[in-house]
Amino acid sequence: MTISHQFGGQWTEDKLNRLRKYLNAYLTIFKKNKKAIWYRTIYVDAFAGTGNRNFPDLAEATSTPLFPDETDVKAFQEGSARVALEIEPSFDQYLFIEQNPVYARQLEHLRDQFPYKKHSVTVLQGDANQLLVDWCMRTDWQKHRAIVFLDPYGMQVEWNTIDAVARTQAVDLWILFPLGQAVNRLLTRKAPPEGAWADRLTRFLGTPDWKDAFYQPSPQMSLFDAEERKDKTATFESIGTFFLDRLRSVFAGVAKNPLSLYNSTNVPIYLLCFASANPTKAPLAVRIAQDILK
Ligand SMILES: C[S@@+](CC[C@H](N)C(=O)[O-])C[C@H]1O[C@@H](n2cnc3c(N)ncnc32)[C@H](O)[C@@H]1O
Repeated sequence: MTISHQFGGQWTEDKLNRLRKYLNAYLTIFKKNKKAIWYRTIYVDAFAGTGNRNFPDLAEATSTPLFPDETDVKAFQEGSARVALEIEPSFDQYLFIEQNPVYARQLEHLRDQFPYKKHSVTVLQGDANQLLVDWCMRTDWQKHRAIVFLDPYGMQVEWNTIDAVARTQAVDLWILFPLGQAVNRLLTRKAPPEGAWADRLTRFLGTPDWKDAFYQPSPQMSLFDAEERKDKTATFESIGTFFLDRLRSVFAGVAKNPLSLYNSTNVPIYLLCFASANPTKAPLAVRIAQDILK
């Protein structure tokens, strides 16, 4: 039985098409280039879902900024894990990570549908952050090259995970940054968020600097205000730029034209971003990604 997994919007198709193009370009290089052929290639889908996707009922939207739901969508189509498995030539290894045990079992069924690749597919059920950091440390980067796709609903990715990927110096990263879906919604207008929301932003962005970047002293403050008041000055553009700068601080190369993915009310809910950790190959990887993101 195929389990229903509802997420995304019309933009989901666009996102997966760009990913598909990059996977094709990557494998063409790694299967043909005399130097690249020496490496074993790995595709990692760390928020893998089920391999399929269904569209949810718009009427059921009950989201909060920390746990956004997945609204705005329509029919049954293939998800990223299936997209990756269908591409020929193949990766030498596939790693699918999924927290939801029911979805993880579905990924095992998906693996069974590709008998000739079955031996090269690993499905791990658990938290992507822990499992990915562990994988980055365990893999022999003298012999392997990889693409990691991070496709969370919201802010489930930890900065430590992004940093671990960057430190491999061997991974190309595609990451969905939840711009309007989560980050902008946590940035409350009249003052910076406190407590759990502030902690989440700091863990996600890897620095508390977002407070100064996204808030300025309020022009309406008076001498009688006991504490400095700050207003939100962040825009979708400045939030996106801040995240790209964070990626640039740890990756060898970052695509300068992330793709904005809009919902039906024209809010940029996600940015599809690309970064390459490989110091020697980043310029080529970024050039290919930028072309695909155009
Ligand atoms: C947007 S969906 C991924 C869709 C998938 N990339 C596709 O195209 O079919 C996000 C997935 O991440 C899973 N997830 C959420 N938090 C997670 C975590 N901490 N670790 C691993 N998976 C997680 C959810 O269960 C969900 O299946």
